[in-house]
Amino acid sequence: MQEQNKTMDEIIAFSKQKGFVFQSSEIYGGLAGAYDFGPLGVELLNNIKSFWWKKNVDQKLNYFGLDSAMFKDPRVWDASGHTSGFSDPMAECKTCNTRIRVDKELEKLGVQADEKMSEEEINKLFDENKDKIKCHKCGGSDFTKAKAFNLLVKSNLGDFTSKGENPVYLPGEACQGIYLNFKNTVDSMHPKIPFGIAQIGKAFRNEISPRNFLFRTREFEQADTQFFVRPNENKEAYERIKKERWQWYLDLGLSEKSLQWEQHENLVFYASDAWDIKYNFPTYGFDEIEGIHNRTDYDLTQHTKFSGVDLSYNDNGEKFIPWILETSMGLGRVFLAVLSEAFTKEELEDGTERVVLKLKPFLAPVKIAILPLVKKDGIREEAFKIFENLSQKYVCNFADTATIGKRYRKQDEIGTPFCITYDYDSKEDGAVTIRERDSMKQERIKIKDLEKYFIDKF
Ligand code: GAP
Repeated sequence: MQEQNKTMDEIIAFSKQKGFVFQSSEIYGGLAGAYDFGPLGVELLNNIKSFWWKKNVDQKLNYFGLDSAMFKDPRVWDASGHTSGFSDPMAECKTCNTRIRVDKELEKLGVQADEKMSEEEINKLFDENKDKIKCHKCGGSDFTKAKAFNLLVKSNLGDFTSKGENPVYLPGEACQGIYLNFKNTVDSMHPKIPFGIAQIGKAFRNEISPRNFLFRTREFEQADTQFFVRPNENKEAYERIKKERWQWYLDLGLSEKSLQWEQHENLVFYASDAWDIKYNFPTYGFDEIEGIHNRTDYDLTQHTKFSGVDLSYNDNGEKFIPWILETSMGLGRVFLAVLSEAFTKEELEDGTERVVLKLKPFLAPVKIAILPLVKKDGIREEAFKIFENLSQKYVCNFADTATIGKRYRKQDEIGTPFCITYDYDSKEDGAVTIRERDSMKQERIKIKDLEKYFIDKF
């Protein structure tokens, strides 16, 4: 078997054809920066989420789960700094009004730029490189000056006057719900510091140019942990957290050679350290999938100031505002990394090509496919009994059309790790053939032993 190169265009086409990801509102021409997870995509996404939850909440001492409301008091976003400082530098093409994100255009030219630079700093670099930057639509190079564009998405929740005053924002980052529930968690669960709170939640950003499929979208999901520690007692915990997050990606099935660390050079003003985990996407190259940040005491100090409620922690009479170590993973990006890693084109010995999604079995949308060899002579009915039994425990497919070879290939494409074939011999020997996806090896197993067989496999 010879593995062949893959491109992101192939993965995007595959995602749609096989029911993993669809563009939002496709029948209306598609809404930029929003995607829907299809029948197989939602299974894969849920499997990634439950693996994250298991490792970050269920299997951890002193970590607590949360699911906070998306809508929050608008003052939350003043306290967090989002209403004043959550922006990207944007310029407009004077010919066709198309908007570009200036820091990203500069980066493409190899110029060191990022969204945290002041307008003055970014405009200086923009002026120096303007003639090399082309409008995506008309190809021109005549742009307005770069201006900071705020990324928060507004809603009219509770605004019955429709004047748009005091908007309630959609969350710009999911983690704010954790800070708002810091006191509630301490008062209800009485955790001993250090402790963590974990949440999976949606975030919305008015991205100027959503791009690269699931990579930069306007609506996305984040899986966050916030670890509360004593001030300055963070070095050891930060290193532990970094190690655990790296290992989590390996356990998810991403290969070590396709992962990379990068430390931030230009920190946001409140952070004292920040590292990204990057994945080497086909066609796009290495880019960020998770950020690990030391946010100091900034968040709880700000919310204490703006809400008037004291958010310090009381440790036997000693009061202090805890520091926060954050891990924030983008689920869309990790989903795309998992799909990219697993998507495989193989040239088989007989010269034919096989597409196979080499997902770890626990991530596979369908765990077992049950395939009756033929529909007649009671074969289908007997096979269906196996489906009814195994589908109590596992997501199963039952497929009885097309040749057995074609049915195997279809299951390979969607990553089903095991296929069971019920044939004429099964009636005699009470056994079925089990075919494993990656090796394509087959073995004969008694029907009565199937449950135990799969407990061992999953
Ligand atoms: N609370 C910290 C925070 O939001 P961030 O680096 O802005 O930090 C964390 O975001 C993660 O969320 C990123 O590593 C990325 O995986 C994901 N993310 C951020 N912006 C995104 C976007 N526009 N589309 C998809 N995922 C995004």
